[in-house]
Amino acid sequence: MALEEVTREKWATRLGFILAAVGSAVGLGNIWRFPFQVGQEGGAAFLVMYLLFVAIIGIPAMLVEFVVGRSSERNPINAFDRLGHGEWRFIGILGVITGFLILSYYSVVAGWVTRYTFASLTGAYFGEAGAYFGQISAGPAAVGFHALFMVVTAVIVAAGIQKGIEMAVKVMVPALLVLLVGLIAYAFTLEGAAQGYEYYLSPDFGVIAANWTSILPAAAGQAFFTLSLGMGVMITYASYIDEDRNLGVDGGWIAFLNTLVSILAGLVVFPVLFTIGTEPGSGGPGELFAGVGGAIAQVPGSRLVGFLFFGVVTIAALSSAISILEVLVSYAIDNYSIERPTATAVISAIVFVVGIPSAMSTDVLTLFDATTAQLLLPLGVFLTVIFVGWVYQDSAKELAKGTGSDASGTLPVLWLWYVRIPILIVVGFVLVINATELYGTLTDMLL
Ligand code: PHE
Repeated sequence: MALEEVTREKWATRLGFILAAVGSAVGLGNIWRFPFQVGQEGGAAFLVMYLLFVAIIGIPAMLVEFVVGRSSERNPINAFDRLGHGEWRFIGILGVITGFLILSYYSVVAGWVTRYTFASLTGAYFGEAGAYFGQISAGPAAVGFHALFMVVTAVIVAAGIQKGIEMAVKVMVPALLVLLVGLIAYAFTLEGAAQGYEYYLSPDFGVIAANWTSILPAAAGQAFFTLSLGMGVMITYASYIDEDRNLGVDGGWIAFLNTLVSILAGLVVFPVLFTIGTEPGSGGPGELFAGVGGAIAQVPGSRLVGFLFFGVVTIAALSSAISILEVLVSYAIDNYSIERPTATAVISAIVFVVGIPSAMSTDVLTLFDATTAQLLLPLGVFLTVIFVGWVYQDSAKELAKGTGSDASGTLPVLWLWYVRIPILIVVGFVLVINATELYGTLTDMLL
């Protein structure tokens, strides 16, 4: 096929890849979902489990996706054909479906955030933060901001991998870190700061021991979501990396920077929640907006502080949404002779339509979030781990490229066996618990 012979674009610089992957990882998962999970699972106990999970499972699992992407130089569906195992392409198909579902509601939440950014300038939510969230989170206005966010995302993706994504994230990621640090300094001066730090940073190991069967799966789902694993984003991004790069080093940096942003976000959110007397974990998907929005309304310079805070979150959400859309678009371009702009337009329109029910009802949105993060992402990781560990024969060889050692080097071999047995068991376990829990939630909701 002629398309296959065209030389694939590569990241212009090593930093380009790392920043794009960090841009994907850092998003609503860090700032909207992470604090919410911390609140639901008892504070610092969750933080400890989450950090452990990222280090012990998340990074090696990210390398699993890198190996598939770089060795195949294909999108997540064609990757498996290219590696000579077309019968595993259903993993890629599952990933594309998961991506569609995640982006559809992700864009709705990002639409709320966009709206709060503008509303900060006029102080629209300063009077009744909770009620304001109720008014804007579901209904035609939410559909409108969902549409706006999808259009901006689509324009960047349509511009192409080098010009669009790489340039955008080079500006976005550093800006995000700077703004968060500024907001932490502000949160530090609040009355509830000490209580917030205590809740967030001082773990009670008794709580972990007693609740680990609920904390572990939540931590796992959050880790996969926030690292953008389980749906082919990292396969796609790695398909543009050169062979002289050390995947382990790049993966370590990506996970580190992403985790840093979550930790920083928590350092803003918890002092604020304790200052306004909102119990963490009590507010559902609107908690960040009602809680933080309400606090921002009280402080001097509230319009600017609000604009900065929600502006940062919008930027972070944009670079993540770009990465999901890129998987879908890259699949369409690699398989059909469609131009990038056409593919982007058509796919974005479909995602927009799928997202309308989530924009009309936060219950639907929560259902999409639970199903994708708790079930589909761990399933995607689990299947890719089986493939890389047990089916594809050149995994260790691919990981070794760019490290100076070969496939029989200590690290590649250790990693391979680590993927084959411990990771498989842990992710399989998480999957079973999450499936059982989700089944319970669904039956509760429907009956
Ligand atoms: N990691 C992104 C975030 O934390 C969300 C995401 C999930 C992006 C899955 C791509 C794939 O917001």
